[in-house]
Amino acid sequence: KKPKIAIVGSLNMDLVVSADRMPKVGETIPGTQIHYIPGGKGANQAVGCARLGAEVSIIGALGNDPFGQQIFSSLADDGVNIEAIERMDDIPTGIASIIHTATDNCIIVVPGANDRCTTDLVSKHQREISSASVLLLQLEVPLDTVRHALVIAKKSGVKTILNPAPAKELTEEILQLVDYLTPNETEFEQLCGYSANTEEELEQAMREWENRYHHRLILTRGEKGCSYLVNGRLRTIPTPEVEVVDTTGAGDAFNAALACGIGQGWRVEQSVRFAIKAASHSVTKFGAQSGMPIRDEVGRDF
Ligand code: RIB
Ligand code: NA
Repeated sequence: KKPKIAIVGSLNMDLVVSADRMPKVGETIPGTQIHYIPGGKGANQAVGCARLGAEVSIIGALGNDPFGQQIFSSLADDGVNIEAIERMDDIPTGIASIIHTATDNCIIVVPGANDRCTTDLVSKHQREISSASVLLLQLEVPLDTVRHALVIAKKSGVKTILNPAPAKELTEEILQLVDYLTPNETEFEQLCGYSANTEEELEQAMREWENRYHHRLILTRGEKGCSYLVNGRLRTIPTPEVEVVDTTGAGDAFNAALACGIGQGWRVEQSVRFAIKAASHSVTKFGAQSGMPIRDEVGRDF
């Protein structure tokens, strides 16, 4: 059965400049290429879900400008339901300025219209959330909007996944409303205010966290894979070795696939394995949104 996923999140135009290496502060270096690619964690995850075969709609805000128009139509082309995207006249579409090298990226995000993804906008489109099987969120829209969407989901018995990226301090209320939290290692360190030096320390920190907030923690660890707890013990699923072209959006591919798995009732282990395959496929392709894999590319062995 097709999972139905609702996303409340950001939509950006990514201005991606590729270079052989990162510049140092104050340094000017030549770049090799520039690309304009629709992005934003919310939109990337929406496209990821759609390409994996889910029914997905995104609640969000764009400017009434050429970038907004381009993003709007490319999401529609990817099969994302765009009815809950609102266009704002007085603020530009969000922008991400990205420096890309083969192994790394640096991003500056100017939220623009994403700041207008308000609680009112979410209320207006709350049917999208209450009729879904999973609500998927990130942190590129106002925190109060995230909280509001979670409350709606909880009331309707919809499962909630929060990808806490980019890292932000979260309230107790938000953390209690989440069913699955998917930080990467640095985001988890910032959230729990503690950096684990060994796998045992990590296991302990994750156990304490889950006991406190009563949700599942799914920790993405780049090339090391993904860790989560099974009966209080750390389990790590490794990442397959792939040829890396662009790591931008790997987290988005992971979260999209995880939501698809959870949304169709798969267990955590199977969902995580599927998500790792989707993420590792995405890093072999250029661009965040452009690199989201389709279902057949992820295969059946996971
Ligand atoms: O996760 C990658 C995304 O983060 C990019 O598409 C960019 O828009 C930033 O929001
Ligand atoms: Na990619």
